[in-house]
Amino acid sequence: MIVVTGATGNAGSEVVRALLARGLGVRAFVRDPGKARRALGEDVELAAGDFADPGSVRAALEGAGTLLLSCADDPRRVGWETAAIDAAVAAGVRRVVKLSAMAAGPGSPVAFWDWHGQVEQHLRASGAGWVILRANWYMSNVLAAAPGVAAEGRLYAPAGDARIAMIDPRDVGAAAAAVLSSPGHEARPSHEASPGHEGQTYLLTGPRAITYAEVAAGLSAATGSTVEFVDVPGDAARAGMIGDGRPAFAAGQIVAMFGALRQGAGAQVSPAVETLTGRAPRDFASFARDHARLFAVAAGTGAAR
Ligand SMILES: NC(=O)c1ccc[n+]([C@@H]2O[C@H](COP(=O)([O-])OP(=O)(O)OC[C@H]3O[C@@H](n4cnc5c(N)ncnc54)[C@H](OP(=O)(O)O)[C@@H]3O)[C@@H](O)[C@H]2O)c1
Repeated sequence: MIVVTGATGNAGSEVVRALLARGLGVRAFVRDPGKARRALGEDVELAAGDFADPGSVRAALEGAGTLLLSCADDPRRVGWETAAIDAAVAAGVRRVVKLSAMAAGPGSPVAFWDWHGQVEQHLRASGAGWVILRANWYMSNVLAAAPGVAAEGRLYAPAGDARIAMIDPRDVGAAAAAVLSSPGHEARPSHEASPGHEGQTYLLTGPRAITYAEVAAGLSAATGSTVEFVDVPGDAARAGMIGDGRPAFAAGQIVAMFGALRQGAGAQVSPAVETLTGRAPRDFASFARDHARLFAVAAGTGAAR
């Protein structure tokens, strides 16, 4: 049994779908079973719980061989995820796969990456078999801008000419499923070797490092209407996100990440998705086509998903 946390999220839901497509047994650890059922369908077992409730984490891990560890970018993440790793070890879970970020590192000036780095450090020392998947910027981050693009034909971001090897969350799901289901994922007696990807850290990226101007061009092509990229100063971007209801801390972190991306933090292209899945990762044009409807509603182009 493979337990997936963060299973209703952008990436976690794709991990669940990719595992189900492989015919594997999946138990999704979710806060809201109704939401999870609607998002993930009938074929997944649900374990209701919350990282803040250690008993619910222990119950979800009973009899599991493998754990995919994903969560939201929450200041409590380090405590939640390190406790879940310890619970997995205590439950005899053979492999913990941690979904992390491309520039993770303890002490990173970007708190989100610092937290991932602290959890990675704990996992490596935990005694569990571990695999770390450091994903680049998700293409789905652009979905937050869809209403603005649809209304104005403009994509605002403090991205400058940053080159970002952004990845479709479906490819995060496919790569994670390959690692989670590789030999050794079932629960075994502890004396047996586990021949999976243990001890590996993989960088997951899309096929090319692209700029936000290229993202806008991809949206233009997909929607059939002109989408213009507008570079905005970090302060204005932060104020805009807060105005849209995003918490100030999170808005500051996103601006800090864009600063790091402009310095090249996301420019590296990795072959790992293709190596792990046997398929080249999707490019942004494909992502844009599949989500064109969201960017084109007000423009009335009729582009279909
Ligand atoms: N976005 C990027 O560009 C990017 C790039 C690299 C790495 N990452 C990392 O990838 C991971 C997943 O990202 P994502 O975009 O898929 O996240 P997301 O869409 O925000 O999903 C977060 C998931 O965590 C669950 N969750 C939140 N708090 C929880 C709690 N207290 N107990 C149990 N579950 C809880 C949420 O459940 P609910 O549905 O109940 O809220 C949801 O399923 C994150 O760790 C992020 O740092 C993101």
